[in-house]
Amino acid sequence: MKILVINGPNLNMLGIREPDIYGADTYKDLCELIKKHADSVGAEVEIYQSNHEGYLVDKIQEAYGKFNGIVINPAAYTHTSVALLDALKAVNIPTVEVHISDVSTREDFRQISYIRSYCIKTITGHGFGGYIEAMDYLIQESEG
Ligand code: DQA
Repeated sequence: MKILVINGPNLNMLGIREPDIYGADTYKDLCELIKKHADSVGAEVEIYQSNHEGYLVDKIQEAYGKFNGIVINPAAYTHTSVALLDALKAVNIPTVEVHISDVSTREDFRQISYIRSYCIKTITGHGFGGYIEAMDYLIQESEG
């Protein structure tokens, strides 16, 4: 199982940005947690972060034929990007949407997710653990 984990803008600032919402752990901590979990379940994982929408689109396109699962937290682009939705539809790889915070209880503008209609599952408000749940879900689905 090869999983690509994609993180959108400002997630590189975890640990610094709004710790009351996103916690005190850093982006490096998140990456280590994801890699450790992948090792423990025998999955291959690549982690990518960008603050630029087009780079995220490029990364999704490059996943075609290389990965059999995507975990994506598009961050603010969740609420604005048709381009990310179209890229995910284009490569047609099973994808789980993750948000660290519980977006459902936050501002109105966070209630829209353009990618949600494509994703096989959405996990919100479970902190960094949401990424682990997402990986496990993709593995479980791939094993049928
Ligand atoms: C987020 C929620 C988004 O609304 C926000 O723009 C983020 C992070 C989350 O993980 O909770 O940057 O995706």
